[in-house]
Amino acid sequence: MREQAVILINAYTQSEAELYQPRRICEALRRRGIDARIERNLYFTERYRGDADFIVYLDKDRYCARQLEARGVRLFNRAAAIEACDDKMLTYLALEGAVPMPETIAGPLCYTPEAPLQGLEAVERLGYPLVVKECFGSQGKGVFLAKDREELVALAGRVKCRPHLFQKFIAESYGRDVRVLVLGGRVIGAMQRSAHGDFRSNAALGGSGARFVPDEACTKLCLTAAERLGLDYCGVDLLFGRDGFLLCEVNSNAFFAAFERATETDVADLYAAYMIRTIYGGFYDRDQNA
Ligand SMILES: Nc1ncnc2c1ncn2[C@@H]1O[C@H](COP(=O)(O)OP(=O)(O)O)[C@@H](O)[C@H]1O
Ligand SMILES: [Mg+2]
Repeated sequence: MREQAVILINAYTQSEAELYQPRRICEALRRRGIDARIERNLYFTERYRGDADFIVYLDKDRYCARQLEARGVRLFNRAAAIEACDDKMLTYLALEGAVPMPETIAGPLCYTPEAPLQGLEAVERLGYPLVVKECFGSQGKGVFLAKDREELVALAGRVKCRPHLFQKFIAESYGRDVRVLVLGGRVIGAMQRSAHGDFRSNAALGGSGARFVPDEACTKLCLTAAERLGLDYCGVDLLFGRDGFLLCEVNSNAFFAAFERATETDVADLYAAYMIRTIYGGFYDRDQNA
C-alpha cells in the first residue's frame, strides 16, 4: 500500500495565493513517493476514512484539528500549536519569560457594543504611539497604531467586542521586521521585510523581502519560541528592538512564496522531507528520489 497524506485547506479558500502553498507541498510530497491529495475542510471529519499517515493542516479550524488528532492522525502542525499561534494573546502568554517581547496588555472582554469604553488610562502607560491589535488577524489587517488618546478611543471602540490587546510600539522597527522560518527545530532562513509607507511590514500590504542572515541570538530566540509552542513549521516575526530582537508573533501557517523568492529556498521540499522523516523514520528509501 502506498503512503498517504492529506493536505487540508480551508473550506472556502479561493485566492490563487492561498492555493499556491498546498499545491507546492502536494507536488513535493508526490515527488518523494507519497500519495498526497489536497482536500477542503468542508465537513472533512464526516468524510475522512482514516487512510492518511499524516495530514498537513493548512486550515486553522481548531475543532476539526482536535477531532482528527483524537482519531490518531498526526497533524503538521499539531492542533495545540496552531491554536496557540492563532491567538496572539495566547502566543504571548505561552512565551512570556522565555523570549523577549514588547510589553503587552490584554483588552477586557466586552459583550455589550453600546457600553462606553472605560479604564483606558491603564494602557496609556505604554506611551504613544501604541499598538492596538486584534488577537485573531493576519496580513496586518487587525494591527493599528494610535498616536494619541483620540485615536486610541476610536481604535479601542472598534475592536472592543473582539479579543484584542494593546502593545508597546517598537519605534526602531517602524516599517521593518524580520521573518524567520523554522522547520523541525532548525532555522531554514530569514528575510527582512520592509514596508512602503506603513509601520507594518507585511508582504500582503506591499512590504518587500530581502534575504537576512540571522545571528546566534536571533536563531536561539526563534528556536525557543517554536519549541515552546510545539511547532514543526512556523514563521517567527521579529521586531528590531533597541537592545536586540523582540518577538512580534508566530505564524503556524506561514506563507512561503515571498520567502522562497527572497531566499531561493525550496521550502515545500524541505517541509515534505521533514514530514516524511518524522513519520516513516530516517531510512525512508524514497527520500532521495526528488
Ligand atoms: N509592537 C509593535 N511595534 C512595532 N511594529 C509592530 C508591532 N506589532 C506589529 N508591528 C508591525 O505590524 C506588522 C503586523 O503585526 P503582526 O502582529 O505580525 O500581525 P499580523 O498577524 O497581521 O501579521 C508586523 O509585521 C510589524 O511590522
Ligand atoms: Mg505578522
